[in-house]
Amino acid sequence: MKITMAKELKQKPDSNCLGFGKYFTDHMLVMKYDAAKGGWQETEIMPYGNFSLDPASCVLHYGQGIFEGLKAYKNEKGEITMFRPSDNFKRMNRSAERLCMPTLDVDRAVSELEQLVELEKDWIPTQKGTSLYIRPFMVADEAFLGVHPSKKYIFCIILSPVGSYYANGLAPVKIYVEDELTRAAVGGTGEAKCLGNYAASLLGAEKAKKMGYEQVLWLDAAEKKYVEEVGAMNMFFVIDGTVVTPMLDGSILPGITRNSAIQVLKKGGYKVEERHVSVDEILDALKNGKLDEAFGTGTAAVISPVGNIGYKDKVYTINNNEIGKISLWLYDQITGIQTGRLEDTFGWVYHFKK
Ligand code: PLP
Ligand code: COI
Repeated sequence: MKITMAKELKQKPDSNCLGFGKYFTDHMLVMKYDAAKGGWQETEIMPYGNFSLDPASCVLHYGQGIFEGLKAYKNEKGEITMFRPSDNFKRMNRSAERLCMPTLDVDRAVSELEQLVELEKDWIPTQKGTSLYIRPFMVADEAFLGVHPSKKYIFCIILSPVGSYYANGLAPVKIYVEDELTRAAVGGTGEAKCLGNYAASLLGAEKAKKMGYEQVLWLDAAEKKYVEEVGAMNMFFVIDGTVVTPMLDGSILPGITRNSAIQVLKKGGYKVEERHVSVDEILDALKNGKLDEAFGTGTAAVISPVGNIGYKDKVYTINNNEIGKISLWLYDQITGIQTGRLEDTFGWVYHFKK
């Protein structure tokens, strides 16, 4: 790997007001792919900076691009860790296959990421609720206007010190059930973390924002009946004591936090069901006082309680707009494992070699 150090280092932001995705570290990792040169080329760590792209680059026209999101932490002993990094690169490879893009060697990607994070370790914030967000992405970079898979790609990893994704931290969020626009359909790209899915979600998100909501709860494209997921998180509902989450049927992202939450909940003795969940079932549970809590899971969002759900012209309040017992317990468990406060009995924490 080639390493070129930045001549000047940036001033680090105040870790009390990081927000999400606003600051970027001094270096980034870049690896180029060229089918004519045998595939992936040597990885480079270089100063964070602009790319130069041909105006005909395929990603600019047809959106052939994918990304990932994971986090690194520094614990009380100063030890650096990452949460389930191999799972992110495995998912990236599944997204790559769906978009006809080249896959990565997972072990190589994790070990090169480790070198980048090690170099930028002074950027890892340690305050409660903060971390170093890692954003790997890959875009098609061949200059041509025909629609076919590119023969050139850029894989890049950038790093951003972050606080909470939502402006009000762990306070319950307000979500709007979108029953006109859809984000993804079975057979489409919903389960891939590809650029177009997020572009397709913007109009619904803007509509919801104008009505005072933080996020959109998407429904299935065919019947607009079943709950899918929220813009940046998977959804869970606690109905009459049972934790229910939409099953992975091809149109929602198989979230790594979702998977962690299911395992932690089951180990904690909770009953968890992965199945179709209709809006009607949720509204009925609300009316009958059986919807105990609702929350979302995601790398950026961590565990985010949902306090209000808007559907058609009505707003429904869940658990008095307060953080539920299970949401809080799960937040504590997941962040405890991630930051080293609790023992990692699942083998999810990646420890740096040094
Ligand atoms: N769903 C969508 C659409 C997302 O963008 C994300 C964020 O990555 C998630 C769910 C949660 O996935 P994960 O827990 O792997 O971050
Ligand atoms: C993540 O949680 O890593 C995400 O990718 C969410 C992002 C769309 C902000």
